Amino acid sequence: MSDALPEPATEVLDDREGVPFVGAGPGDPGLLTVRARALLADADLVVHAGSLVNSELLDAFCDHAEQVNSVGKDLEELVPLMRDAHEAGRTVVRLHSGDPSIYGAALEQMDALESEGVPTYFVPGVTSAFAASATLDTQLTLNEVANHVAFTRPQGKTLSPEEDHISEFVRMGDVTTCIYLGTHAVRETMDRLLDDGVDPDTPVAVVYHASWPDEDVIRGTVADIADAVEEAGYRASALVVIGEAVTGGGYERSYLYGDWASSGGGGEQEPDADDTDAITEGSTK
Ligand SMILES: C[S@@+](CC[C@H](N)C(=O)[O-])C[C@H]1O[C@@H](n2cnc3c(N)ncnc32)[C@H](O)[C@@H]1O
Repeated sequence: MSDALPEPATEVLDDREGVPFVGAGPGDPGLLTVRARALLADADLVVHAGSLVNSELLDAFCDHAEQVNSVGKDLEELVPLMRDAHEAGRTVVRLHSGDPSIYGAALEQMDALESEGVPTYFVPGVTSAFAASATLDTQLTLNEVANHVAFTRPQGKTLSPEEDHISEFVRMGDVTTCIYLGTHAVRETMDRLLDDGVDPDTPVAVVYHASWPDEDVIRGTVADIADAVEEAGYRASALVVIGEAVTGGGYERSYLYGDWASSGGGGEQEPDADDTDAITEGSTK
C-alpha cells in the first residue's frame, strides 16, 4: 500500500531547526502524516520506539537511514546519540508511536537535548485511541451518550492507586475512557470498577494493534471482558475503551444537523448527501 503513496512534497517541511519528535501514528503506514513522511525521507538517523512502531512503516520510509531502537536505552545513552549525530551535521528524527504527547516521555528527552544546545520540536501523530475509535466504527464523543473523553492508564509502577481515576471517569457515565498501557491489567482494572460500583453491563472494547494487519477487537462488558482478553492471550499493545460510545448506538441527532432536518434544508451548515447518516437518530449498530 505504501508503495502507491506519492513522494512527499518538500514544501510540507517548515524551516524549524533541530531534532523533531515525530508521531508515527498507530501502525498503518498510511496513517503517517505527510510532514512525518517528508521528515523521515530526509533523515540520516531515525531513533524509533521499537515494536510499537510497525516494521512495515520502518521498511517503507526509513530504509535509507540508520535506525536505532530506543527500547532498553536510557536518557544517558539516547541524548548523546542524538546530540552527537545532530552536531555532526546529520539529520535526526526521533520517532514515537502514535502521538508523542500521549504517554511518550518525549519532553524529558527534549529538555535534555535543549540543555545540550540541540533545538527540538513536536510533530503530532494519530494517537492509538483515534485508530481504535475508527476500528470500532464509532465516535469517542457521541451526542447524548459521551460528552467527554479521558485518556488514562491504570495504576502500577508509574501511577499509585490514589492517582488511578478510571472508576471516577467511568462512573461519570458520559465519558469514554481510553486506557493506554493497560492490556496486562484488564482483570485488575475491571475488578476495581466492579468493587467501586460500576454497572457490570457497561460496554468495553479491547482493540489490539489498531490499524495493523493483525488488528483484533474483543467486545464485552465490565463483567466479562477480562475472561475474553485472557483467552485471546493479549498482554500488551491494546487499547481498552470503556463506555456506551463503544457500541456506536443510543445517540441523539446532533444540534448541528437538527435544523436542516426539520426545515428541509437551506441552513448555513446544510450537510451534503454523504452526511445523511448523521441525521439518522439512534443508530442500531
Ligand atoms: C507507551 S504508550 C504510547 C502511546 C502512543 N504515544 C499513542 O499516542 O498511541 C503504549 C500504549 O499505547 C497503546 N497503543 C499503541 N499503539 C496501539 C495500537 N496500534 N493499537 C492499540 N493500542 C495501541 C497501548 O495501550 C500501549 O500499551
